Amino acid sequence: MRIGDIRDVALGRLHALSMAVRWPHREADWEMLLGFGHGLAASDEIGRVLSTAMWFTHGEDFATMGMLITSPRLQTHGAGRWLMEHVIAQTAPRRLGLNATRAAQPLYRSMGFKDEATVYQCQGEARLTADVKPRGMLRPIAPADMDAIAALDRVAFGADRRRLLDLLAGMSQGLVLERDGAVVGYGLCRPFGRGYVVGPLVATTDEDAVALAAPHIAAHAGSFVRLDTRSEAGPFAELLVRAGLPVFDTVTTMSLASSPWLPVAPSAGAPRIYALASHALS
Ligand SMILES: CC(C)(COP(=O)(O)OP(=O)(O)OC[C@H]1O[C@@H](n2cnc3c(N)ncnc32)[C@H](O)[C@@H]1OP(=O)(O)O)[C@@H](O)C(=O)NCCC(=O)NCCS
Repeated sequence: MRIGDIRDVALGRLHALSMAVRWPHREADWEMLLGFGHGLAASDEIGRVLSTAMWFTHGEDFATMGMLITSPRLQTHGAGRWLMEHVIAQTAPRRLGLNATRAAQPLYRSMGFKDEATVYQCQGEARLTADVKPRGMLRPIAPADMDAIAALDRVAFGADRRRLLDLLAGMSQGLVLERDGAVVGYGLCRPFGRGYVVGPLVATTDEDAVALAAPHIAAHAGSFVRLDTRSEAGPFAELLVRAGLPVFDTVTTMSLASSPWLPVAPSAGAPRIYALASHALS
């Protein structure tokens, strides 16, 4: 096997690889990830891509990783572990977070990653009318909101992801919730995979998170909508079921760090991530 920059691999080949493991990414989704992050591809001597891995830096001391895929016919031969060793070397000394599928969990645990939380992948054909009354003013995101959004997000995410937020805001429909003149939550929605993904979404209460998510879901009624959340129960989780987005699968958030990445018990009133940007980006 040879290892090289993922950007040297034709987009069509990367797309074929993710389709082979039944992931929903379109070429446009790969393109966005390639533009934002870094990645490696392992190929055989005749140029076939066997395995890929990507990482995404957020601020000075944190990175997330994802898009670890080995072609189904070539799994369990060591390619995944080999690429992971490179990703860890490339991202050190940053703390590293990821969302692990069941297939990859033993690999990550054996490399020192610790389990932190379950992510519920909620998806389906959206059926919802936006009948939620927000506590505050709900309005489209304006460029002048980005500083306040990034500050709120930094507390919720545990690292500075301003660069990612600027990118996602440019390709998403975005809403902010404003109360007493301050931004208290935001939610984005963009085309992804088979339809649309709602996220990232940050709010301080379930009630605010519902107010931010419901209009996005209702705007795509009849279409395929996905939302990845760590909320297992409560009004936000109930909204997703009501909206036709039941839990389809789960992944496990893990990190390689001296202390947990996610807040262990977020204090009441602190901003929280209600919807992830995506599995790979977190
Ligand atoms: C997860 C995945 C990337 C592993 O790639 P791989 O090239 O097969 O990995 P390796 O051969 O290096 O195996 C790494 C370890 O995981 C174990 N492993 C691999 N596939 C496994 C599976 N399906 N279930 C349990 N353990 C598995 C191997 O036995 C190996 O352990 P060892 O080194 O102690 O022997 C691959 O199964 C895959 O592409 N799955 C579908 C996409 C996916 O879920 N990606 C992970 C996203 S978080």
